[in-house]
Amino acid sequence: MRSDDWYKGKDRDSYIHRAWMRRGLPNNAFDGRPHIAIANTASDLAPCNSHLNEVMEYVKNGVWEAGGVPLNMPAVSLGETQMRPTAMLWRNMSAMATEELIRANPIDGVVLLGGCDKTIPALLMAAASVDLPAIVVPGGPMLTGTYKGKALGCGTDVWKFSEELRAGKMSEEDFLKSEQSMIRSRGHCNTMGTASTMGCVAESLGMTIPGVAGTPAPDSRLLQTAQETGRLIVQMVKDDRKPSDVMTKGSFINTIVALAGIGGSTNAVVHLLAIAGRLGIKLTLDDFDKIGSKVPLLANLQPAGTHLMEDFFRAGGLLALLKELKDLLDPTAITVTGKPLVSYLDDAQIFDETVISKRNKPLQDSAGIAVLKGNLAPLGAVIKPAAASKELLKHKGKALVFDSIEDFHARIDDPNLDVDKDSVLVLRGCGPKGYPGMPEVANMPMPQKLLSQGVRDMVRICDGRMSGTAYGTVILHVAPEAAAFGPLSLIQTGDVISLDVEKRTLNVELTDEELNSRKPSQKMIDALAKPDRGWQKMYVEHVNQADTGADLDFLVGSSGSQVLRESH
Ligand code: FES
Repeated sequence: MRSDDWYKGKDRDSYIHRAWMRRGLPNNAFDGRPHIAIANTASDLAPCNSHLNEVMEYVKNGVWEAGGVPLNMPAVSLGETQMRPTAMLWRNMSAMATEELIRANPIDGVVLLGGCDKTIPALLMAAASVDLPAIVVPGGPMLTGTYKGKALGCGTDVWKFSEELRAGKMSEEDFLKSEQSMIRSRGHCNTMGTASTMGCVAESLGMTIPGVAGTPAPDSRLLQTAQETGRLIVQMVKDDRKPSDVMTKGSFINTIVALAGIGGSTNAVVHLLAIAGRLGIKLTLDDFDKIGSKVPLLANLQPAGTHLMEDFFRAGGLLALLKELKDLLDPTAITVTGKPLVSYLDDAQIFDETVISKRNKPLQDSAGIAVLKGNLAPLGAVIKPAAASKELLKHKGKALVFDSIEDFHARIDDPNLDVDKDSVLVLRGCGPKGYPGMPEVANMPMPQKLLSQGVRDMVRICDGRMSGTAYGTVILHVAPEAAAFGPLSLIQTGDVISLDVEKRTLNVELTDEELNSRKPSQKMIDALAKPDRGWQKMYVEHVNQADTGADLDFLVGSSGSQVLRESH
């Protein structure tokens, strides 16, 4: 056991290590049992994760049951809706802090408790870098709330209602009253947003007990799986099965297939690239297109469809969906149990085909994320065709450029704004360095002027991200971002932009000479955040571009579980 290095022996150091841990631990806690950290992102300020302390208690039960020693290890938690400017600014900080805590402590294995959008990605990045045995327990989605008898998709319906309010189609009273019903129970957003996506991603990567993804947070089966996870992590330590054994190129292939089949969040692209980077696995943006773009959409879930996560779990969940796509999966990719993911598909079953479609009746034929390239995005940009308007997937229009989110808010509802339904809204300065943290602002609200004309979607381009609960013809993650002086920083209002999703192109109709003769927008440069201290300064100086996962350059790769200097 790695923890033996701390506890075994009769010298002063082992005395100190044991003595300080004796508060409640029995004598036999130090007799060579696996010590299991529970990286716990429970926090009142990350409300989607506030129930994880209870989940942690059940993991502890399982660890004790299997002869291990469980230890609660609070981790940096990130509440998506509360943190400003964006929780993504601290994903890498949470990953770095968790990585260091796991490595520095007398730990043999770790259970990762996450839920809200950035928490599972951060925990997986940390576990990948330290590479001690690890299992995720996803916190699970909330139950479905209703307003006036209609199911509410947390997040997605907030976007819809606010557009309806702005268009004068919903009263302010109804808008505000619906707030009380939006969040019905503990758990994370109940659409196939980023949190639900990352729970499914953790499972398709093989990093959870198969079948747990999508278990609603208040469902007693989540606690049962938590206890089972506690037992399994002890066994995993004994078997020395590590994240690098589980998260292989094959499991990333399985995850890209799953991501398309569930119509998962575009944010998963950035997170998966970052996790693969920690493992030294060569995964590129193009892999998402190559492997996933032809995969059919089978989950009828908001924001692309109509149902919610409670329905998805009731209908058979991720395993039932993956069974339909079995021939596309890598049969060798194992899970934390040591058995291949595909071996769990035989018993899976679809119980409601209105929620999970059969392969021969897909909701859409080619649903995966499409990667666009061209002189506007030389390193790539992504679009989720499943959430876009079909008629806009091939489009040409004049750019209406905004130099910052503040510029956008100041002008978008101006009745004299020179905009029509064919215009292409461009928002720049919102990439990893620009804002900083790459906020979810790409699904720009529509101009009031067009909303009142009945226009509900238009082509929008941004170097930022889009909430996993949002929808629309939105091109995201443009790389290089404008703040890194990519071509996005050079375009001007009135330039003609052409988008062809089928051909995977995104271009501004300017020659190289014309583009090169321009200087980056000074208005954009003036609006950029310029942090001069602390984490934000370090982040801006070291963050990579979105096409490689927006990790910090010095965190890419694995450093293992070896402690640099061993004594006090
Ligand atoms: Fe936490 Fe949506 S706000 S998952």
